[in-house]
Amino acid sequence: MNKLIKLGPRLKTIASFVPRGTSLGDIGTDHAYLPVYLLQAKAIVKAIGVDNNQGPYESALETVRTHGLADIMEIRLGDGLVPLQKGEVETLVIAGMGGKTILKILQSNPPVMEEIKTLILQPQSYEEQVRVQLLRKGWKIKAECLVAEEDLIYIVFCFSRFEGYSLVEIEKISKELAASIAELTPAPSSVLLKFIWKLGPLLLWHKDKLLPNTIEQIIQQRQKIIKSMTKTERSEVKQATRELQAEINILEGIKKWLLQ
Ligand SMILES: C[S@@+](CC[C@H](N)C(=O)[O-])C[C@H]1O[C@@H](n2cnc3c(N)ncnc32)[C@H](O)[C@@H]1O
Repeated sequence: MNKLIKLGPRLKTIASFVPRGTSLGDIGTDHAYLPVYLLQAKAIVKAIGVDNNQGPYESALETVRTHGLADIMEIRLGDGLVPLQKGEVETLVIAGMGGKTILKILQSNPPVMEEIKTLILQPQSYEEQVRVQLLRKGWKIKAECLVAEEDLIYIVFCFSRFEGYSLVEIEKISKELAASIAELTPAPSSVLLKFIWKLGPLLLWHKDKLLPNTIEQIIQQRQKIIKSMTKTERSEVKQATRELQAEINILEGIKKWLLQ
C-alpha cells in the first residue's frame, strides 16, 4: 500500500534543509524513510540510498518497493560514497552516525564530492570537528540548529558550496560573541573562544532555543566528575577539580548570556 511516511522531528528537520527539486544521496539510509518522505512530497526528483549493512539494505529495498518508488529511487549496498557515480546526486544527507564516520565517508569518493552542492550532516558525536573541518575545506554553513527527539538533543548542519557563513565570517562572529559574553563572564578571550567553537558559534549567534539545555547537560557531566573526585586528597586531583569548576562557571555565564 502507498502509505505516506511520517518522520520524527530529527528527520523532519533534515528534510527541511534539502533543496527542492534536487537529486539526493542518503548515505547510511537504513529504513530509507527520509528519501521516501521527500519523494512522496515531490520535494526531490530522485534518490539513491546507500547502506553498508545487509539488514538495513534489505529494509530500505522493502520500503522502496512497498511505496512503489522503484522508478525514481535506488538502494545500493556499499561503503559511504563508493557505490555512487560522479554527478549522480547533488545533495547528500549523512545522518545518525558518529562524526568521525561521517568525515571518513566524505573522503571515500572525491570525484562524487566534487559535484555535491549541499551537504546535510547530523553527527552524533565530534560535532566541533565536523563543523571546523568542513569550514576549513571551504564549505559554508547555510544553517545549523538543534532538534529535540525523545529526550535527546541532536545537531543538524546544512553546508553549502555557495550560500551561508564562511570560516572567516564565523571567526568574526565568534570574536564578537566573545566580547559580548565577556561583559557577563569575565574570562580571557582565548578561553571564551574555545567554548564558543565547542558549543557552535552560529547556535550562540542565533540563540538556539535548545542550547541552554545542551549547556546544562555539559555542566551536569562536569559536576558528576567533580563529585566522583572529591574522595581523594591528591593535589593533581584537586587541581583538576578547580579546572572543571572554572569551566562550569564559564558555561553558567554563557547560559546566562543566552537567556538574558
Ligand atoms: C543509526 S542508522 C541512521 C539511519 C538514518 N540515516 C537516520 O538518520 O535515521 C546508521 C546507518 O548507517 C549505516 N552505515 C554506517 N556506516 C556506513 C558507511 N560507511 N557506509 C554506508 N552506510 C553506513 C548503518 O548500517 C546504519 O544503517
